[in-house]
Amino acid sequence: MDIRLRDAEAKDGAALAAIYAPSILESAISFELEVPSPEEMASRVATIQQRYVWLVAEIDGPDGPEVVGYSYGGPFRTRAAYDWTVETAIYVRADHHGTGVGRRLYDQLFVRLADLGFRLAIAGATLPNDASAGFHRAFGFEDAGVFRNVGWKLGRWWDVAFWQKALGPGAAEAPDPR
Ligand SMILES: CC(C)(COP(=O)(O)OP(=O)(O)OC[C@H]1O[C@@H](n2cnc3c(N)ncnc32)[C@H](O)[C@@H]1OP(=O)(O)O)[C@@H](O)C(=O)NCCC(=O)NCCS
Repeated sequence: MDIRLRDAEAKDGAALAAIYAPSILESAISFELEVPSPEEMASRVATIQQRYVWLVAEIDGPDGPEVVGYSYGGPFRTRAAYDWTVETAIYVRADHHGTGVGRRLYDQLFVRLADLGFRLAIAGATLPNDASAGFHRAFGFEDAGVFRNVGWKLGRWWDVAFWQKALGPGAAEAPDPR
């Protein structure tokens, strides 16, 4: 399978919403309750791309190119000292799980984020999520802690684990000025 990566564009809004939807509607993987519209997804892409990176993975389907996954880095928290830290997210279409789409997306995302001077990536996942935990460990993410009972969805409380991974020189030297 030939997987191509590119920066997300406004035209991807519908595909992004469709890939994201199961994590909202069928689980607590996302803490959102309603699926964003294609326009809302396109707007999120534009906002992220002002300072960060949003990638899509595309394959050739029977009717032309199809987006089968996406990944982005965005703000972790907004106070100035967090300016070199990003929170990452990744969603692969269910019929392509386990085929290397996520690996390609994260490999490229980290190169791009490190090039932009970011020094730390943080990822959070509602527990349990063995796929996400295994995936983030495979990329060298280390455990950073678990918030207990931090979200209410589908009639119960959920824990969220956070992991972290250094980018570029990490904390070995001072960052470039922002
Ligand atoms: C987590 C997710 C992004 C992984 O993407 P993917 O394209 O299926 O992953 P890949 O095929 O590229 O796998 C890369 C590595 O991740 C790990 N991994 C992937 N799926 C895994 C699973 N189900 N269990 C344990 N480890 C897994 C493996 O180490 C794998 O390496 P290998 O192929 O050499 O074994 C995907 O399962 C997904 O979109 N899940 C639903 C949304 C979600 O949970 N997103 C993360 C929210 S924090």
